[in-house]
Amino acid sequence: MDRVLIFDTTLRDGEQTPGVALNAEEKVQIARQLARLGVDVIEAGFPAASPGDWEAVRRVATEVQGPVIAALARATPGDIERAWEALRGSPRPRIHTFLATSDIHLKYKLQMSREEVLERVREMVAYARNLCDDVEFSPEDASRSDPEFLYRVIEAAIRAGATTINIPDTVGYALPEEFGALIRGILEHVPGTERVVISAHCHNDLGLATANSLAAIQAGARQVECTINGIGERAGNASLEEIVMALYTRRKVLRVTTGIRFAEIYRTSRMVASYTGVSVQPNKAIVGANAFAHESGIHQDGVLKNPLTYEIMDPKLIGLDRSMLVLGKHSGRHALRKRLEEMGYQLTSEELERVFASFKALADRKKEVTEADLEALISDEISQVTEGYHLEHVQVCCGNMIPTATIRIRGPEGQAITETAIGNGPVDAVYQAITRVVGLPNRLVEFSVKAVTGGLDAVGEVTIRIEMEDGNGHPRVFSGYGASTDIIVASARAYMSALNKALTARRVAALELLPSLSPVAAA
Ligand code: KIV
Ligand code: ZN
Repeated sequence: MDRVLIFDTTLRDGEQTPGVALNAEEKVQIARQLARLGVDVIEAGFPAASPGDWEAVRRVATEVQGPVIAALARATPGDIERAWEALRGSPRPRIHTFLATSDIHLKYKLQMSREEVLERVREMVAYARNLCDDVEFSPEDASRSDPEFLYRVIEAAIRAGATTINIPDTVGYALPEEFGALIRGILEHVPGTERVVISAHCHNDLGLATANSLAAIQAGARQVECTINGIGERAGNASLEEIVMALYTRRKVLRVTTGIRFAEIYRTSRMVASYTGVSVQPNKAIVGANAFAHESGIHQDGVLKNPLTYEIMDPKLIGLDRSMLVLGKHSGRHALRKRLEEMGYQLTSEELERVFASFKALADRKKEVTEADLEALISDEISQVTEGYHLEHVQVCCGNMIPTATIRIRGPEGQAITETAIGNGPVDAVYQAITRVVGLPNRLVEFSVKAVTGGLDAVGEVTIRIEMEDGNGHPRVFSGYGASTDIIVASARAYMSALNKALTARRVAALELLPSLSPVAAA
């Protein structure tokens, strides 16, 4: 069977989800997990977009081994050079450059003629190819472009040295039959396609991203671009887990394979949800909480008699079997490190020390520490940015009285600050007290709390989003995550993580003027 390459863009297009901003450490942790999952390519970011993105791509390129590491660049020398500088530490770098080809984009966004676009593609693909042997070119908005012009652009990109041609359905407009026909047309009409990989990049505006990606594969595409949990711009990108499980479950019809280790799917989904703050809808295919839940009595009866009656996939296949006890209260650092390494985490000694302390505290309170609990502790640890403010103690008084919170925070210069506040409820009181110390006015736009496992002693995880001014006069959303057996402490930690991310973003904005992202910046 043919192999389809899985190009994961969670860290680039996925990060373009409104309100998602991952720091470099979070990106590295996710990239390591993507490598364990077995993706072929990781698109780590868009280095010209911000100094933070550049640094995150550089770290992923140097610290994550296995997959090809790609970075996005507009078709300009400046962007391509920034991408290359960030990527050059990787043993397997790829520059991914793009330029729109639809008349709508040419007229209103780029203000370029078709001939100018053709010339720019020739020049910029050749420019990228001089720096890097692996170059991907995407004609943005390909599905709404005139096919004859699209063929000419693709031919020019191949002649200039592109090794992968990616066909984006940028606005999620195509229908599966049309998208399949577009890929078939390219393979039939463009000279040189036998020398390159044809790829599909589908957005989910009409809920068709997975269907369109499968149609592209059936038509001959051998790379698909997708994200974990389907996160991404607007309605998101094609979901990695949906595509690979469809390819596997319906392999007799689709007749292609991937290199994905299915058992890592669920863990990767959980990690991405907690770091990005974008929860998975319960009825999401494959990884949603209800994806394998059977509510009707008839279904339950059938599944008990034989799971094949109502289950087309074994939930264990995707790693949904994580209730086992992994460590107990007598386990030491060595056992914890070993277990975390088996789960794919590589922590520094200081991080391990902190996770070990939380693990001990958890093992004292909770009879069984499961893999899901450990994942929550790690996500909590990684979400607490090392610079900035650190929460040391939280105490609340609540009941049918005025809720009051007292907190102690360690400030950026190491000073201990204690503050007390009242609020409408215990979480509000804690947030008021923290805001008095950190002093960043904001609006809480989302708050969700959930138990990691069953049982009254379960770890609670809190995901929040706050909106504030970003330092450049624009509103921006920051997400935060916290986990603890005490949901008030988890809420406080989630708030601290969001505030520290906001502080970092403001510092970057103040120190370095971010380049403006014009569609095709001047060379
Ligand atoms: O959706 C899109 O067109 C993109 C390109 C940059 C590949 O994300
Ligand atoms: Zn996209």
